[in-house]
Amino acid sequence: MKRMLSGIKPTGQLHLGNYIGALRHFVENQDEYEMIAFIANLHCITVPQDPEELQKNLKDCVALYLACGLDPEKSTIFLQTDVPAHAQLGYIMCCHTYLGELNRMTQFKDKQAKGEKNLSGGLYTYPTLMAADILIYDPDYVPVGEDQKQHVELCRDVAIRMNNRYGKLFRIPEPAVPKVGARIMSLSDPSKKMSKSDGTDKGCIYLLDPLPKARKKVMSAVTDSIGKVHFDPENQPGVSNLMQIMSSLTGKSLEDIEKEFEGKGYGDFKRAVADSVCSTLETIQTRYNEIISSDLIEKTLKEGAEKASAYASVKLKQVQQAIGMEIR
Ligand code: TYM
Repeated sequence: MKRMLSGIKPTGQLHLGNYIGALRHFVENQDEYEMIAFIANLHCITVPQDPEELQKNLKDCVALYLACGLDPEKSTIFLQTDVPAHAQLGYIMCCHTYLGELNRMTQFKDKQAKGEKNLSGGLYTYPTLMAADILIYDPDYVPVGEDQKQHVELCRDVAIRMNNRYGKLFRIPEPAVPKVGARIMSLSDPSKKMSKSDGTDKGCIYLLDPLPKARKKVMSAVTDSIGKVHFDPENQPGVSNLMQIMSSLTGKSLEDIEKEFEGKGYGDFKRAVADSVCSTLETIQTRYNEIISSDLIEKTLKEGAEKASAYASVKLKQVQQAIGMEIR
């Protein structure tokens, strides 16, 4: 069975972009692949966190993994810090990555360009930790949204370099980026990615948003004056974004959505998008409410960490031996 691995960094509440671009694909693939899905809590602290809030977000993230349909019987689900080999291999990866490679990472460059002050060293080197997260399990595929593709490509480059230098250590993974929904945009500014850190609450639908609030966000989404439901990200970014959301959540193709709303106004269209969002959120939230007060979270993380550690510790040892860091 081929293996897939991915993670989400709960620096805030999980949102619809995380679900459409990543999480739902973990769930869809867990029958066909050996799925490893972790919570990237080391990555969270690359930007300042309020400890109380982080605690809540971590627990919610596990509950949401489960509420969205990840099954601990099929998938390995764990907290990154419960498997210390990630950080250990992360350091080794960092020592095999060139500064020039890190300087090219657009996520860091964008933050720098915005003039954000006091960016941490961890934020700069975080793609090397991400490379370790991946390579330590030898996955075949890494399902991610568009914004993480560059980091998976860096991971491949460093893995190939290390394989050439030390002999075959790592399987070279492929990024798996969905055709539709890989980059869900902000509802209030469709030129920006939907993100938990975009400052305004209006552009981002959180998976735990009350349904009336989520509906209101869709209904007030920025569109255009063209008045036609047509997929054209360049000229109609707002409408095209809503179409991608609807297509991802209902399984309807973009062409079918265009046909369905031919001759109709944006009001009807937005109501249909809001219905698809609210029905998805309702299902997730009903399960979340059952899970959050049960002992399933603790049990899942404990079993997941045991399974993941067994694999990761062997891999770390192999790497350290190949590099010559251990006395044999
Ligand atoms: P993170 O936490 O920023 O995002 C988690 C996943 O959600 C996707 N995503 C989106 N997809 C579509 N539209 C959006 N607006 C949107 N926003 C986010 C991301 O592409 C991602 O797949 N570094 C990673 C976490 C990580 C990881 C890993 C992932 C750490 N180690 C190893 C894969 C493998 C991150 O910060 O993702």
